[in-house]
Amino acid sequence: MERILVTGGTGYIGSHTIIELYKKGYEIDVLDNLFNSKITVLDKIKEICGKKPGFYKIDLCDFDAMNDLFKKNKYDLVMHFAGLKAVGESVEKPLKYYENNVGGTINLLKCMQENGVNKIIFSSSATVYGDQSVSKFDETLQTGVGITNPYGETKHIIEEMLKDVAESDPKFEAVILRYFNPVGNHPSGLLGEDPNDIPNNLMPIIMKVSRGEIAELSVYGDDYPTEDGSGVRDYIHVVDLAKGHVAAIEHMKPGVLIYNLGTGKGTSVFEMIAAFEEAGKKKLPYKVVGRRAGDLAEMYADPTKAKEELGWETELTVGDAMRDTIRYLNSL
Ligand code: NAD
Ligand code: UD1
Repeated sequence: MERILVTGGTGYIGSHTIIELYKKGYEIDVLDNLFNSKITVLDKIKEICGKKPGFYKIDLCDFDAMNDLFKKNKYDLVMHFAGLKAVGESVEKPLKYYENNVGGTINLLKCMQENGVNKIIFSSSATVYGDQSVSKFDETLQTGVGITNPYGETKHIIEEMLKDVAESDPKFEAVILRYFNPVGNHPSGLLGEDPNDIPNNLMPIIMKVSRGEIAELSVYGDDYPTEDGSGVRDYIHVVDLAKGHVAAIEHMKPGVLIYNLGTGKGTSVFEMIAAFEEAGKKKLPYKVVGRRAGDLAEMYADPTKAKEELGWETELTVGDAMRDTIRYLNSL
């Protein structure tokens, strides 16, 4: 049985991935500084799958503490979710993002090297594709051009670092997973997206509007060249996303593998509002405002490579994500 260290494991995507990993019998430890998550997430994981990961409250930026953890435990693989992800904040505090995401990952890779751990799966983002003259993005497209914020830059830099490490070390195995737009939560409604940071993503804002914490959703533009004029994205259920990680482990080999994780289908902001209203049986207040700087009109994945090489594809819909989000909201 393989033993996995999950950085950022109390966070939104990490916690959902742990549930899928437990189904496959992996042993898991979590490293997180709890900056953007709560320790109680581990009890929810136990409630769902009867097992609770070992937990280490360690910051990626604390090399000595992390190295100590690697010295005391033999890990076969690292799943690296930990990182800061608030795009707006990254523009205001770029150094915080470079230090935490890039600096933290350098520390992690050094600890892995020093302790003979060769395998890593990294949470990247479709944001690395930047602005291109296409709507459907496949892995052959160039990355790193036209990225509009420091958060996105950190993802691109880390991807390049992983490629360089793989060049230097024939034993190194990395999988870069480029997430499109993760939404939804575990169908039990026990676990969900519960950030401490200030979200600027659509789904966390819809959730806040639904709870009355924000008066109304601002729809950023209804004059895009899309079917209904609002922005179109590829919203992937977080449980499907989590399963993509499990498929990736099973196909690792020396070198770097890169996969888009998305549904291949675009959904507009107005369609997201309608889907939420249908699942929740209530209206979601919104108003149309101007476009958000740096936004693309339309972006969705070409997920063919993941299907062909990993045998993975999404099974759940935006409707499923909305149903599960409502369950989670009702449990709060
Ligand atoms: P999240 O904020 O819920 O989880 C990240 C976790 O990392 C948090 O628990 C946080 O406390 C921890 N963390 C941050 N900095 C740390 C540090 N220095 N040391 C230790 N722990 C630290 O975010 P998420 O949505 O679960 O995202 C997971 C990963 O996926 C991130 O790397 C994110 O950039 C990436 N990603 C997320 C999305 C998305 O829309 N959610 C999209 C693309 C990529
Ligand atoms: C954003 C980030 C991207 C990051 C990704 C996941 C920007 C410019 N891009 O992408 O770097 O990788 O999140 O973290 O911030 N929308 C509204 N009203 C809102 C919020 C969003 O109408 O209050 C619209 C957006 O215009 C977009 C869609 O909803 O059309 C999705 O937005 P969002 O969830 O922020 O994701 P991305 O734009 O894909």
